[in-house]
Amino acid sequence: MGDIREIETILKVHNQEHIIKLLNKLDGEKKDTLIRQIEKIDFNQLTELYENTKKEVEIKENKIEAIKYFDKEKLTYDEKNAFDKKGEEIIRNNKYAVVTMAGGQGTRLGHDGPKGTFKLDVYGKGKYIFEILTENLKEANKKYGVTIPWYIMTSKENNEATEEFFKKNNYFGYDKNNIIFFMQGELPLLSLDGKLIVGKDMKIKEASDGNGGVFSSLRSTGALADMKERGIEWVFIGGVDNVLAKLADITLIGMTIEQNQDIASKSVVKANPHEKVGVFCKMNKHPKVIEYSELPTEMAEEVDTNGELRFGESNIACHLFKIDAVEKISKEILIYHTAIKKNTYIDEKGKEVIPTEPNTYKFEAFIFDAFDLFDDMSVLRVKREEEFAPVKNKEGADSPRTAKELYEKFWQKKKITV
Ligand code: UD1
Repeated sequence: MGDIREIETILKVHNQEHIIKLLNKLDGEKKDTLIRQIEKIDFNQLTELYENTKKEVEIKENKIEAIKYFDKEKLTYDEKNAFDKKGEEIIRNNKYAVVTMAGGQGTRLGHDGPKGTFKLDVYGKGKYIFEILTENLKEANKKYGVTIPWYIMTSKENNEATEEFFKKNNYFGYDKNNIIFFMQGELPLLSLDGKLIVGKDMKIKEASDGNGGVFSSLRSTGALADMKERGIEWVFIGGVDNVLAKLADITLIGMTIEQNQDIASKSVVKANPHEKVGVFCKMNKHPKVIEYSELPTEMAEEVDTNGELRFGESNIACHLFKIDAVEKISKEILIYHTAIKKNTYIDEKGKEVIPTEPNTYKFEAFIFDAFDLFDDMSVLRVKREEEFAPVKNKEGADSPRTAKELYEKFWQKKKITV
């Protein structure tokens, strides 16, 4: 462990003297833990992140174009066949892996535990979100005669609970050697005046660094090396919370190969101008998703000559990457976005402060910012009612109630048509 004086100097240089005061109140294990935490912090990065909070997100309209996409419904019989054949070959030859990003906090849902452990009230008995995803993969495995390796990204906060949950549920019948958990990174939270904050446990409060952390975490944890060893060529990366996500879509894989692209994504038509979804576009000739939190109102409401939303291709967090693309991105630094959140903390006198207003910056990288590293990508527009039933909020839109309805409707229809 570093010298305490050195630590104090670092804290002073970076205007974090309040932490010195707190350190002086501690001894033993608690003090050592806090020191070890401070040693791991990249203060230069933190300063830069804080400086960036003062800059406006600039979206210069004149450099923005709509993105080209293929509509799955409008593919000709031959086109679809050609795509499906290529995609199926990849899966059947064990060249396909799935990553589920499950490191989020899921605060909006108000569920105490990892989001995947939430039980959706379907068919009376209910099903856990992780159970639904497992069923989805098992169906693909059966169809293509393989076991798709499934990599689940967790965070420091929820890793243990996630692994325990799978163990307790006997991996929902999935071959446990093909479920690989890996943890994403964290970044400290900062108060609105740029100070580190300490929680009740006397540790600096940190939070997951966003789903854009998936690439570097895949690499640093060895998960990417594991994929390469298994001969994986294509990697699907998706969110944990869409209970209608198609985790092994041969059309998407085949289309991406046929179009000679390294990355691809699925879209649905935006339900209304203010739906909380990111939208695809091209910015400065590179593919991009503008997140809902950063999309200016005028852009959100803009319509084209057909009266359709100009930025209406919505991101459903179903992305596909060639393994080389994952590797390439993993070596780059993605930009961080800032969210303002409410967090309790311990003040210099050791008293807990419970804020009434959002009081801290949280820094998050977004997975789709990686698209900017490529000249182009494939986008496949799919039917919302078949592929998008997100569980985000406790009530209202994108809630367990709406997801249950969509899920049951989809499976009901599938039963009738099969
Ligand atoms: C996300 C997309 C949004 C899209 C919407 C569709 C991002 C940044 N935003 O919005 O464009 O329209 O889904 O439903 O992708 N996660 C982690 N670690 C983290 C943060 C998040 O693994 O540190 C995971 C979550 O568990 C979740 C996914 O990433 O599975 C997206 O989560 P979140 O960042 O909350 O984005 P949304 O608002 O859901």
